Amino acid sequence: FHQDNICKSLHSVFLFTFVYILHSFTTFLELGLYLFRYMELKKKVLNGGGVNAIAHHTQKNKKVLVRDRLRMLLDDEDYLELSPFAGFGLPYGDIPSAGCITGIGKINGLWCVFIANDATVKGGTAYPITVKKQLRAQEVSMQNRLPCVYLVDSGGAFLPLQSDIFPDKNHGGRIFYNEAVMSAVKIPQVALVCGSCTAGGAYVPTLAEEVVIVHSIGTIFLAGPPLVKAATGEEVIPEDLGGATLHSEVSGCVDHFAAVESEGYECTRNIISTLNFELPEENTTEVEEPLYSAEELMGLAPKSYNYSMDVRLIVCRLTDGSQLQEFKARYGTTLLTGFARIEGHQVGIVANNGELTYEASLKGSHFVQLCDQRDIPLIFLQNTAPQPVHTLSQAKGSMMSAVACASTPKITVVIGGCHGGDSYAMCGRAFDPNFLFLWPNARVSILAPGHADALVQEERETVHINEQLKKESTAFFSSGRLWDDGVILPQDTRKVKFTMQKHKCSAV
Ligand code: COA
Repeated sequence: FHQDNICKSLHSVFLFTFVYILHSFTTFLELGLYLFRYMELKKKVLNGGGVNAIAHHTQKNKKVLVRDRLRMLLDDEDYLELSPFAGFGLPYGDIPSAGCITGIGKINGLWCVFIANDATVKGGTAYPITVKKQLRAQEVSMQNRLPCVYLVDSGGAFLPLQSDIFPDKNHGGRIFYNEAVMSAVKIPQVALVCGSCTAGGAYVPTLAEEVVIVHSIGTIFLAGPPLVKAATGEEVIPEDLGGATLHSEVSGCVDHFAAVESEGYECTRNIISTLNFELPEENTTEVEEPLYSAEELMGLAPKSYNYSMDVRLIVCRLTDGSQLQEFKARYGTTLLTGFARIEGHQVGIVANNGELTYEASLKGSHFVQLCDQRDIPLIFLQNTAPQPVHTLSQAKGSMMSAVACASTPKITVVIGGCHGGDSYAMCGRAFDPNFLFLWPNARVSILAPGHADALVQEERETVHINEQLKKESTAFFSSGRLWDDGVILPQDTRKVKFTMQKHKCSAV
């Protein structure tokens, strides 16, 4: 080398190293921020309605906190909480856990959906997001045929937002409608009244099939003592108006009287053991762990579409023994399809590995139909191109049809981007997956931030829309609005494991 060339080469090497270190640092920083936000929201969720409301609930009202209630209701093992971050960042404020905790857990060995009001959040009243969360939990119960248990402690509708809760089809009344329909299709429902059930809160236990009430803290009435006084002039205490004694001895509205809260959970657990309800047998064969550590998944989570790596690096950290029997490995290579086992369950994996081309869509459509024909549940690992599709090919339409019509259980995990029409073909929320989870780095929007120029010509508007996309596409923005079933850490993806059969699927 000429000395000049050596200098130039050294300069390039330094520049490259500097850019590489800077990029690694910003990626590291960004991943750290996702994790920080995740932890921050988790802490807020655990704090419910705040210190004062917790003191009011436990000391004045002498009630147990909702998460401790769940510990008494459920078997002593892990349970899956659905959409814990729902309710954050809404136009009407932050509503921790949307005012109610929902999820799936075992009661006396039987997987059940639970819906538990958190009365530390404005007396357990129902905001629009609370209604949405309860409806989603009922949908999970119906779609997967799981019994549903309600822990009711609610002041009914949050009155200032009544027009967003009462009149429409998917507003509050739908919860009661669903209860009736669920009973008709033989999905058992049990309610435990462990607080005030006023107005809308009163319908939930009344429509359940078997009801327990806790003495002195449980009440059921359409209007409380202040309204009785206003309407009739009569002074009455809550216990006499609709307490445990009245409803278990006079109205017959409830079936079991529990003297204290702990007895209420014991009684509810006993009821579950009499349901005579059977779920598919669980896999008991020994499970092979992946050969590569799941801890590395956070580092592999695509920061943006530009940084996507071969999706096999992710798949081999999710499947048993890191195995995947690829289907059509040499055709439509921007979509990875194949059979694998996760925690012993056979699944079909459909994972984006680049743009969803004509060939990739054709392959996706073929594979989805194959899994449907063989009753094999589908796992979609979604990371779609940042821009909406400008042309909808027949192949993409065919994949969308195959996904929509497949009756096998479907679970979508957004590992990167969820944008435009490709997200439909990859079983986005509108395509009704049994569950949809997001990694914290996920972006959900019609097109990814920075790509507004694909749709908008005017420069100032482009900048404005890009900013809006950046703000509105984060995983936490999505989860706050219940567009998914929760944000999960990449390393926990296998732990959110699934027990599935056709039309029956429970996640833990
Ligand atoms: N709409 C809006 N806010 C309500 C509400 C409702 N229906 N019910 C209660 N709240 C608010 C209270 O104003 C209070 O707010 P704050 O903490 O900012 O002061 C908070 O929820 C807790 O209520 P509070 O009465 O202090 O707690 P409590 O545990 O003693 O009683 C209830 C809780 C729900 C039993 C009681 O508030 C009640 O009976 N509310 C009226 C219920 C009703 O009539 N609903 C009709 C809906 S159609």
